[in-house]
Amino acid sequence: MTALLETRGVWQRFGGLVANSDVSISVGRGEIVGLIGPNGAGKSTLFNLIAGVLPPTQGSIWFDGEDVTALPAAERCQRGVGRTFQVVKSFETMTVIDNVIVGALVRNTVMREARRKAHEVLEFTGLAARADVLASDLVPAEKRRLEVARALATEPKLLLLDEVLTGLTPTEAQTGVALVRKVRDTGVTVLMVEHVMEIVMPLVDRAIVLDLGKVLVEGKPADIVRDPKVISAYLGDRHAVSA
Ligand SMILES: Nc1ncnc2c1ncn2[C@@H]1O[C@H](COP(=O)(O)OP(=O)(O)O)[C@@H](O)[C@H]1O
Ligand SMILES: [Mg+2]
Repeated sequence: MTALLETRGVWQRFGGLVANSDVSISVGRGEIVGLIGPNGAGKSTLFNLIAGVLPPTQGSIWFDGEDVTALPAAERCQRGVGRTFQVVKSFETMTVIDNVIVGALVRNTVMREARRKAHEVLEFTGLAARADVLASDLVPAEKRRLEVARALATEPKLLLLDEVLTGLTPTEAQTGVALVRKVRDTGVTVLMVEHVMEIVMPLVDRAIVLDLGKVLVEGKPADIVRDPKVISAYLGDRHAVSA
């Protein structure tokens, strides 16, 4: 069985800046994979290339056995690539349910069906009680959850999560971790960018470390946190000891 997602020798240049440099990664069906690395390592850029927001300068993106490099974001979403944005992009002046309906309309052209799907996703993500409030009235943790809900409403095969647990209280983060596990248990593959190692490492099956736009190392979380290259690039001694 082929991987669900593969990037093959992907480069992204912004003028003279190399944000992604020969990045080849793969994500297997049913995995939760963590994409980690210091600020500016190129993680969000790689997400944009996978989601089709940007065309790569060089290289190719393969999804579900096909080369999708030339496909626009909307077509990749149709094929099952769902994503959240690091900077929350919810429609602030719309209600929570309407935000999620926007996602559900990707697969349900009948409004009644889209609304039913959106309610189902709000139940799943624990936001049902907030369905009718404006997105702008949500607390930050709920806004992150709404981003996830909107992506889930598109019924993705692959869910790309960009720092959805960052900036949350430990309790909120644990609720988020439980949600990611629940998502995976429904058969959705997850690729997540996350900063808080203590939270993300116990959650992921495998981690890929980006540094200066390149894949530095990948493997099991327990090996990653002990890898001297990773420690010097990113984690710091405190994490090496607590691993
Ligand atoms: N649209 C863009 N134009 C120019 N430079 C960009 C753009 N997007 C990202 N960059 C640069 O690319 C590098 C990688 O950024 P990013 O992918 O956001 O890193 P990360 O998500 O790992 O923090 C950074 O140096 C950033 O400033
Ligand atoms: Mg980022």
